[in-house]
Amino acid sequence: MLVNFNKMLMNAKRGKYAVPHLNINNLEWTKYILEKCNELEVPVILGVSEGAAKYMGGFNAITGMVKGLMQDLNITIPVCLHVDHGSSKETCIKAIDAGFTSVMIDASRHELEENIKITKEVVEYAHERGVSVEAEVGHIGGTEDNITSSATNATLEDCLTLYENTGIDSLAPALGSVHGFYKGEPNLDFETMKTINENLPIPLVLHGGTGIPDDKIKKAISCGISKININTDLQSVWSKAVRKFLDENKDVYDPRKIIGSGEQAIKTRIEEIVTLFGTKR
Ligand code: 13P
Repeated sequence: MLVNFNKMLMNAKRGKYAVPHLNINNLEWTKYILEKCNELEVPVILGVSEGAAKYMGGFNAITGMVKGLMQDLNITIPVCLHVDHGSSKETCIKAIDAGFTSVMIDASRHELEENIKITKEVVEYAHERGVSVEAEVGHIGGTEDNITSSATNATLEDCLTLYENTGIDSLAPALGSVHGFYKGEPNLDFETMKTINENLPIPLVLHGGTGIPDDKIKKAISCGISKININTDLQSVWSKAVRKFLDENKDVYDPRKIIGSGEQAIKTRIEEIVTLFGTKR
């Protein structure tokens, strides 16, 4: 069932586990993620960045692909189709009109007042259509979709102000995580994470899940994180497997064999992620 993230994330918040947000790039990745999560009987959020949306042809193409796969593969778990880091109201509206069940409006590059204004407009449009909304406070740095930016941490006050003035359904407070691989040990502000969770009734989101050691992921979940975004990690395990396959099979030219040689690596990693997050149905 294609759904918004409200029920799955509120269950996760109450049950103290996290739901995986896994970024998709093409039909094959979407199929692998759906098949594996369905086998494990856990809900999943399919994250689509603007770059990935453009790559796959657009939001309508993606909605059609996901719905078609769910039907043909008999997928029975709750699946949320979510825009990752929507940079404008227009992008979010396009995705919602195409059938996305959830959006992240990332207006975190603006001052708080402007972030609130843009986020509120998206919430109004989305909620009228049963679509959930995630927003960002502070700024999560690192490299995402080939764009590199520096980080600013969120404060409790700013998180409360944005929540109270917009009615968002989940919040990604920037607290030291970054997109892409970490240089050295990730330095997450667990204290503030816990305080924000105690003061906000909505689920919290951790971006930059790749490369955070297992004990820190568990600690983040215990501090109230209910959704963890993973992108680079799956790209990395898939490309390693494909590179090895190509090195060992120099005569193969069938794209199905080449792309598919990364299938097992993705599926194995998803099982490890779901186990680590403690994700439940
Ligand atoms: P990583 O690429 O570091 O896993 O981050 C993914 C992410 O936060 C997507 O929003």
